[in-house]
Formats: sequence, structure tokens, C-alpha cells
Amino acid sequence: MRDFKDRVAVITGAGSGIGLATAHRLADEGMHLALADIESGALAAAEKALRAKGVDVLARRTDVMSEDAVNEFADATFDRFGTVHVLFNNAGVAATAATLRARAWEGSLADWEWTMGVNFMGVLYGVRAFVPRMLANGDEGHIVNTASIAGLVSAANPYNVSKHGVVCLTEGIYLDLREMGAALSASVVCPGLINTKILDAERNRPSDLGRATDVASLRSDLRQFAAGFEAALKAGYGPEVVADHVLDGIVEDRFYILPAQPEILARVDDRFQGVLDRRNPTPR
Ligand SMILES: NC(=O)c1ccc[n+]([C@@H]2O[C@H](COP(=O)([O-])OP(=O)(O)OC[C@H]3O[C@@H](n4cnc5c(N)ncnc54)[C@H](O)[C@@H]3O)[C@@H](O)[C@H]2O)c1
Repeated sequence: MRDFKDRVAVITGAGSGIGLATAHRLADEGMHLALADIESGALAAAEKALRAKGVDVLARRTDVMSEDAVNEFADATFDRFGTVHVLFNNAGVAATAATLRARAWEGSLADWEWTMGVNFMGVLYGVRAFVPRMLANGDEGHIVNTASIAGLVSAANPYNVSKHGVVCLTEGIYLDLREMGAALSASVVCPGLINTKILDAERNRPSDLGRATDVASLRSDLRQFAAGFEAALKAGYGPEVVADHVLDGIVEDRFYILPAQPEILARVDDRFQGVLDRRNPTPR
């Protein structure tokens, strides 16, 4: 897809970070926007800034963990614009840095439920709510789902597992669309370390799912890991870098969009080569 002007993009998690930067990037190309986020204040600020660029903006507070809410957002989008050309399922959460090294039996099941609910089910609901109508319209279009490098290397925590699910789901969608000869294509974006508010994601955690398990108080080694990870994230790429990669990926119809640091990509290379070599996983 090469023409963006006066076409329509849907973005979830549009109030902050990668979603917000991509909304600005696509507005700069002249796209009209349907934006969803769970945070009303951030969403309203995004709506105002994007309208100032002269594009039409629909902003709906939406919790992507709720299938009903995502369906309502899709209804509102098609009512307003009639069609959708870019679907960016991007909303995501990570509890705390320490939970990225939690063992499968250490965190609570609520940690799993929340992370899988937003990162995986949220993407699936977005696909199911929008794609059939995009296909029925017959317009050219592109689906981009946000996974992570965590979806390409393994760890026994909810974040990595949810992101592996997004990579698998999106690869399958790409193959299905090709098989159907559809006018739609798909990409998965797997960012490395990006300086956003992702580690402050607990701000959006539903109260009935409690708070993140404090795994760092269970294991002192995790305190050091968490401090190092937080510093690495702050020193990471800006979210605008990811937005540029997303746009290029759509234009070039590239499936794997990998805005990640070389040392992180080396871990992906090691994992996939290790699988083919029947080598056991490399110690971290
Ligand atoms: N920051 C990184 O280093 C990094 C790396 C790889 C992948 N990612 C992924 O990028 C995506 C965007 O994250 P970000 O880094 O921009 O973080 P961010 O916290 O700045 O933005 C995430 C947005 O999603 C929204 N959100 C959270 N829960 C939601 C819900 N239930 N329903 C609707 N919206 C919800 C938040 O309010 C926020 O505006 C996520 O899927 C994340 O997993 C981030």
C-alpha cells in the first residue's frame, strides 16, 4: 500500500508511546484516524494534537480486553468513515521490569490474565472486529500487529508468551490473506528497547486483577535485573523510530518489521539458528 492520503487508519493504544507516534506519522501522510485507548486524558490530548494537523479524528475510550468494547469501537469507526485501510493493533502492557524475569510459577494467575488479555486477546478482538469488514469492502489495506522482540526469544513470563502468540497469529493471518488473494496484507512489528511508558503500564490494570506480583521482593537478583532493564529502556530508541519502520513496512509490504538494537537482534539470530541446529537454549 503506497497511497495514504484521505485513507483511514485505526490505532489502539494511541494515547502514548508507539501508538501515538504512529498516529502522528500517519496523520502527516494525510490519513484520517480512529483512535482507541483505555486512558481518556491521554486519548483526548492525542485527539486534539492530531486534529490540529487537519485530519479527521475519531477517538473512543476502549478497553481492548473487552470484546464488546472493541466491537463497539469498530462499529463507531465504520459508521464514521465507512472503511478502514490500516489496522494497527498496538495496545499492550508489561507489568514491571522484574516480571519479565519472573518464573512461570512465581507471578499470580492475574498477572497472566491481564497481560494475555490485553496483549493477545486485545489483538485477536481487533482482528475479528475489523478484518471481515475490511475484506467485505474490498479496499486495499494493511494490518499491523504489535508484538515485540519478546515474541521471538523465549522466557516463561506472560509478556513473552503473549507476544509469541501475536507473532504466530499474524504470520497465519498473512498466509490466509495471500491464499485468499485478498487486497489486504499484514505485518508484525517486533520492537526492541523503546523509550515509552510501557513499564508504567500498571496504571491501566483493572482493579479486579490486583497489582503485579512483587517478584523483585521474592528474589534479590531481580532487583538488579529490573534496574538494568529500566535504564536500557530509557536509553532505547524513541517511539518515532518505530513509527517510521511501521510506515516503511506497509509501503514495502514487509512482514517482519524489526526496529531493534543490533545486540538484541543477535539473540533472535541465536535462537532460530539454535532451533535448526537442535541446540539447547543459550543461557541468558
Ligand atoms: N517500549 C518498548 O520497549 C516495547 C518493545 C516491544 C514492544 N512494545 C509494545 O508496543 C506496544 C505499545 O507500547 P508502548 O511501548 O508504546 O507503551 P505505552 O505504555 O507508552 O503505550 C501503550 C498504550 O496502550 C494503552 N493501553 C494499555 N492497556 C490498554 C487496554 N486494555 N485497552 C486499550 N489501551 C490500552 C495505554 O494506555 C497506552 O496509551 C505494546 O504492545 C508493547 O508491548 C513496546
